[in-house]
Amino acid sequence: MRVRSLAALVVAVSLVGTTAAADVRGVVRLDQPGATVNPDVYGQFMEQLGSGITGGVWVGESSEIANTRGFRNDVIDALKALEVPVVRWPGGCYADIYHWRNGIGARSARPVTLNRWWGGSPEDNAFGTHEFFDFAELIGAKTYLSLNMGSGTPAEAADWVEYITSDGDSTLAQERRANGRSRPWKIDYLGLGNEPWGCGGRMRASYYTDLMRQYAGFVAAPGTVTVAAGPNAEDYEWTRTLMRDGRDSFDQLSLHYYTLPTGDWARKGAAVGFNTTEWRSTFDQAYRIEEMIRAHDAIMDEYDPEGRIGLAIDEWGAWYDPTPGTTAGHLQQQNSLRDALLAAVHFNIFHRHADRVRMTNVAQMVNVLQALILTDGPRMTLTPTYHAFMLYKPFRNATVVPVELEGTGGARLDVAAARGGDGQLYIAVVNLNPDHPEGLALELDGGALSRVTGQVLTASRTDAHNAPEYPEAVTPNAFNGGRLAGRTLTAQVPAKALVVLTVR
Ligand code: AHR
Repeated sequence: MRVRSLAALVVAVSLVGTTAAADVRGVVRLDQPGATVNPDVYGQFMEQLGSGITGGVWVGESSEIANTRGFRNDVIDALKALEVPVVRWPGGCYADIYHWRNGIGARSARPVTLNRWWGGSPEDNAFGTHEFFDFAELIGAKTYLSLNMGSGTPAEAADWVEYITSDGDSTLAQERRANGRSRPWKIDYLGLGNEPWGCGGRMRASYYTDLMRQYAGFVAAPGTVTVAAGPNAEDYEWTRTLMRDGRDSFDQLSLHYYTLPTGDWARKGAAVGFNTTEWRSTFDQAYRIEEMIRAHDAIMDEYDPEGRIGLAIDEWGAWYDPTPGTTAGHLQQQNSLRDALLAAVHFNIFHRHADRVRMTNVAQMVNVLQALILTDGPRMTLTPTYHAFMLYKPFRNATVVPVELEGTGGARLDVAAARGGDGQLYIAVVNLNPDHPEGLALELDGGALSRVTGQVLTASRTDAHNAPEYPEAVTPNAFNGGRLAGRTLTAQVPAKALVVLTVR
């Protein structure tokens, strides 16, 4: 029977703002350890889209930008420091128009194709299979490959998997060797299509389920986790159909949900220069994912009470109106303090559901949507979202411990805690009040701890962001506001801030 985290039951936030600082009290149940946070919950997503790869990650060996085999060194170094656990490629919608043979062999001979989903831009296919696996090895990440089930065939998909993974003497394995890679690569996760209900083929759930079963039979391999393309946000019937009729053919089920400040795809809201109303509505929209996880999990429970099948939230993040003046369809947007707190809220939610949520992939890694890294020619900026990912590193592989808040008194605090393998207790506190600090008092029930340190991420403006000219406008600082008296931990959490406390 799987371990259920009691933290999932805790209402950690109020959706109503406040004008006065409120004391929030609660208990951290050290004596009731829950599920382990799978490190792959901190995964990334990179798609052939705008400068998400070309320019952002890949510049080619002849570029004036310092690079290693064509991958820009500054970005590689930043990703290595982050220890990216897993990276998903080539899409997204692009996966279902991607034909892998266009991206192997001599780069000069690769065809130029059109990216029909993302601005109709030309795609020179310089970043293909070898480049993706080389890149993943370079940054030390696991690989998540999305198969083309939209415009491809099972034979094409099976050939791709064989080309990548075969250690035998087949013609495909020999072709890979001739193209420069003698050893096979490992596909850690294999995505069976992407958004088949939309750009991936406009399929109905029953049709996709049958097709997915067909593909799975030809591509599944020992040691590879297969991920079926799951629902769009609240489409619970999709989940039910897949779980009822296809659950023996996959290991994880994906869920896609993007946060739009307005909830309206036609006018999503600006990335910067937003008002307090939109700050609040952004988080209201973000919290919808918690109910989605709960409800999809409940359906999964009906068919999989042992929890064999994981939930892979392989696209999440903020989606704003594009930066004015940028190419339509390239999904470029600025990344501010709001995004860092949005990421933190997601992490806390993922921790509360760690028993089912086994992997997630933020959309996207570089230059697209809620990016961790922005590049501008040779210049690179680490975004506030990057710093949020950094601050949560201790939570990887940690054991969730429930946090029970007695009442938030109108405060918008979100608190999550976990015990690391090093024995230390990590507590992440997000204060979504844009104007006021909040006092927090937590009883650490069932543990002998004596010292607290911390880090804080905040800024003077809600839309503060980093840029090449001011790269550290939003960057973590030491937090000295935590106190431990006996078993009581207190902290004064600044307005619009993420605080991560370490208690030992
Ligand atoms: O991340 C951008 C796009 O959003 C992906 O390609 C698609 O899967 C989703 O709709």
